[in-house]
Amino acid sequence: MIRFLTAGESHGPGLVTIVEGLPKGLQIGTDDFAAELARRRRGYGRGGRMKIEQDELEILGGVRHGRTLGSPVAVVIRNTEWENWSQIMSVEGDGAGKKVTRPRPGHADMAGMIKYDTDDARDILERASARETAARTVAGTLARRLLGEVGIDVLSQVVAIGDVRVELPPPADRDAIEASEVRCPDPDASARMMAAIDAATEAKDTLGGLVEVAAHGVPVGIGSHVHHDRRLDGLLAGAVMSIPGIKGVEIGSGFEVATGPGSMGHDEIRTDRTRMTNRAGGIEGGMSNGEVILVRAAMKPISTLMQPLQTVDMTTGEPAQAVRERSDVCAVPAAGVVAEQMVALVLAREVQRKFGGDTIEDLVEAVSRYRARIGS
Ligand SMILES: Cc1cc2nc3c(=O)[nH]c(=O)nc-3n(C[C@H](O)[C@H](O)[C@H](O)COP(=O)(O)O)c2cc1C
Repeated sequence: MIRFLTAGESHGPGLVTIVEGLPKGLQIGTDDFAAELARRRRGYGRGGRMKIEQDELEILGGVRHGRTLGSPVAVVIRNTEWENWSQIMSVEGDGAGKKVTRPRPGHADMAGMIKYDTDDARDILERASARETAARTVAGTLARRLLGEVGIDVLSQVVAIGDVRVELPPPADRDAIEASEVRCPDPDASARMMAAIDAATEAKDTLGGLVEVAAHGVPVGIGSHVHHDRRLDGLLAGAVMSIPGIKGVEIGSGFEVATGPGSMGHDEIRTDRTRMTNRAGGIEGGMSNGEVILVRAAMKPISTLMQPLQTVDMTTGEPAQAVRERSDVCAVPAAGVVAEQMVALVLAREVQRKFGGDTIEDLVEAVSRYRARIGS
């Protein structure tokens, strides 16, 4: 089954992703990874780094002649700015003694400094940085490719930035979403979101927001009710919550139905086994129920502010202003792309768990046979 690890620091020489358990024969190339990474880099409100980051990629293993071999796939994303960071992040030496001693509220900095017994927050923040989600995007690209082979499509949209919020049908129109600089397919809301980001930038402040991820084409019965760690809703919530800055995850209309009566809280079943509504977000009893899977995630405002928050200097114990690292004003559109990757990784793993297959042909055949049996 698919599992993946990433290694590397934000400003180190590169980020490495190793994805294990993929079937043989999945068509993939450097351009596929580059296209997904480009989607993650985009988005109104992102900082200067995104303009510099070119995501120089190399596939180091697991792919031959454009197809996976069934062995671990290893990919490195090189840091094109490494020259500027080679001293601060050098493997040997002491980094010329320049330490980050003022932890930023809202980041891993302070807890990490105490836990790992260091007075240099860089030892922590370099790995805690959301730059790591670029490496996850590599794994997610492979998961999406696998899902595509069995008729499952995952996409996302932004439905709130700051207090600009819009009610939309589940994400489905990829072109309209990608045409928007904030990945919101409603042009009016999109313009208001961009204005909100401009205002936050002007005020030296930051914004969070809400993203929605939809998985189309998931057959009934992915995940299971039999154990806590096989429930699809639990797996999805954990995976999406693991994205830096995500503080809330909802499946379907989870929070809304909690305050209404049961008669308005479920999805009645037609004779053809489809549903009249989709409040459950496509998951009941820890299993997909054949409807579109809907996951909503809330991202807190970016923690690094250009008007720094109050903190403590960890070496002197004196009050101080948090250190300012180059930073995004709003990363909600990018977080949506990362949420797609995390959802895709969970679904790909659960599809593989159910259907197996050492080759992509075996997997596709098993899924087709099952779809024929259940009539979906
Ligand atoms: C794609 C993406 C980009 C981000 N960019 C920044 C950034 O530029 N500056 C920043 O302070 N936080 C950024 N964040 C958010 C931080 O990583 C996050 O606030 C921090 O890790 C602490 O969040 P946590 O408590 O959920 O771990 C970004 C998050 C994501 C998903």
